[in-house]
Amino acid sequence: MIVRDLTKTYDGRKVLDVKHFEFEKGRIYAVVGANGSGKSTFAKVLAGVISSDEANCILRDKTCVVRYSPQKGYAFRMSTLKNVTMAGKGKRDREKAKELLKSLDMEHLMKTPAHKLSGGETAKMALARVMMEKCDYLILDEPCAAMDVQSTLKTEELVKAYCEKCGCAVIIITHSLKQAERISDRVLYFEEGILTESGASAEILHNPKSEKTRAFLDFYTI
Ligand SMILES: Nc1ncnc2c1ncn2[C@@H]1O[C@H](COP(=O)(O)OP(=O)(O)O)[C@@H](O)[C@H]1O
Ligand SMILES: [Mg+2]
Repeated sequence: MIVRDLTKTYDGRKVLDVKHFEFEKGRIYAVVGANGSGKSTFAKVLAGVISSDEANCILRDKTCVVRYSPQKGYAFRMSTLKNVTMAGKGKRDREKAKELLKSLDMEHLMKTPAHKLSGGETAKMALARVMMEKCDYLILDEPCAAMDVQSTLKTEELVKAYCEKCGCAVIIITHSLKQAERISDRVLYFEEGILTESGASAEILHNPKSEKTRAFLDFYTI
């Protein structure tokens, strides 16, 4: 998937500006940056949930399947298991949904009405839902923001395994630089809507080119 000259403007303010970036399948990309730096907007445009200012800024095969999990996971008013099962389409969906929920320690919550789940539990359910089917590009907007440490680590393992199995590209937005280091091959750093740095994760996280990126990264200790 190639992104070029992608901008998004709200009320006359350009909140996103990406000159050029190429996503390769089989890799995990972490998108980092301060609040309001345009990460979610980028994810939404990539997912096709919102449109960019100009058409044709994203080039990908028309047959590509993109799956997206928004920053705030939603729960339909039905059981947790049904919430996940409904994202599939084959006969064995129920078993697959059970398996995914089990792998996230959600076995005891399968019959629970999904709207009664906690924030972290809802996030895990949303993650299971988005992983029910294969895809070419998996876009996750802060999937672990509400999760405890153990769930976060399990999520990372699950995402890595999914990426390997499908051969897809994963684009994960995160505020945890430790998570970016653990899970990603590449890091994209956004500043005020602009993709200012991108490259191999170790390089960006430990040896960024710009002083501003360094100042942002130094704020957190990896
Ligand atoms: N629907 C919208 N209408 C107007 N402004 C928006 C809208 N969505 C996002 N923005 C603005 O765009 C900027 C980037 O937002 P966002 O992409 O959500 O940031 P991030 O995910 O990096 O925290 C913010 O300043 C935000 O207020
Ligand atoms: Mg966001």
